[in-house]
Amino acid sequence: MFSVGIVGTGSYVPENVMTNRDFEKFVDTNDEWISSRTGIRERRIAPKDMPVSELCYQAGLRALEDAKVAPEDVDLVIVATITPDYVFPATACLVADRLGAKNAAAFDLEAGCTGFIYGVATASQFVATGMYKTALVIGGETMSKILNWEDRSTCILFGDGAGAAVLQPVEEGFGFLSFELGADGSGGELLSQPAGGSKYPASLETIEKNLHAVQMAGKEVYKFAVRIMGEVAIKVLEKAGLTHEDVDLMIPHQANMRIVDAAVKRLGISPDKVIINLDKYGNMSAASIPVALDESFKEGRIAEGDTIVMVGFGTGLTWGACVLRWRKAGLKTND
Ligand code: COA
Repeated sequence: MFSVGIVGTGSYVPENVMTNRDFEKFVDTNDEWISSRTGIRERRIAPKDMPVSELCYQAGLRALEDAKVAPEDVDLVIVATITPDYVFPATACLVADRLGAKNAAAFDLEAGCTGFIYGVATASQFVATGMYKTALVIGGETMSKILNWEDRSTCILFGDGAGAAVLQPVEEGFGFLSFELGADGSGGELLSQPAGGSKYPASLETIEKNLHAVQMAGKEVYKFAVRIMGEVAIKVLEKAGLTHEDVDLMIPHQANMRIVDAAVKRLGISPDKVIINLDKYGNMSAASIPVALDESFKEGRIAEGDTIVMVGFGTGLTWGACVLRWRKAGLKTND
């Protein structure tokens, strides 16, 4: 079995910035409420004619460039998203095609905001066994396209973006040290986009009832998130034989600053080791963690050998975490 690490990262967010104040014009809310209850100040919104595959392509391209990997050398493309271009075909197939990754298997993975963690956990199994040498994992969302813009309790929370990582074998002792994944479908209805699937196919009724938009029981999701974030972070560190004192950087899913604060407190980690991007991007679902990872690396916040904990939760309900010992150089293996 090979050790598997992240040897390249990339991200892309749309140019259009939407501030909290912009919401004041069409829903009963205000900047003070949004920033004090969530920590969000602004988010990026994709143009109407920009599908998620475009964001994923841009992030994937940057990650491949960063890893110095040619598209035809990619063996696997996984796109984690809940806002695919189509119900089918998979967005990953479209992105692989645009990238020129013509030798790659490609599929989408749906685990909501935990999608990127599920994605790297899945891809790393293929690389660890030697079945594949190079995998590209992308977390991308255009949440703006599935929001009810009249529902102030959800529309203010989300944003659009994509982040990507290239996985390859790395020197032993580096790369992913542990994963922890979980799911509880009994909470599936707490956060969902009910219509458009086989249970509620699109109809005039589903449109009139706004069932193609995000529905969320905010308080319930909040309670779940506060409990699970700390719990899963502690578990994944234990699995790696580490404690919070070994952590150099924590990248939590970015849903609400109060949720992050609670997890950080539970874990006993110093807040200056925690990466926050929700103030400028809101909750980008599967893109939040990989965008934060990419920006942290590009800003020089990650050094060789650093121990990084990434932890997320989302619709499903799902949760997941991983411990990564940073080593950007891929191992030279015989093909
Ligand atoms: N602006 C102003 N008031 C708002 C508002 C908004 N955007 N959204 C809700 N309110 C109101 C509510 O209607 C309620 O009013 P009421 O007391 O008159 O009924 C009041 O604010 C308090 O609402 P409440 O739901 O208790 O607020 P909260 O402190 O729980 O914050 C969330 C709401 C959504 C921010 C919070 O529950 C949350 O972050 N939940 C988790 C969501 C999440 O992480 N989702 C993604 C998972 S990946």
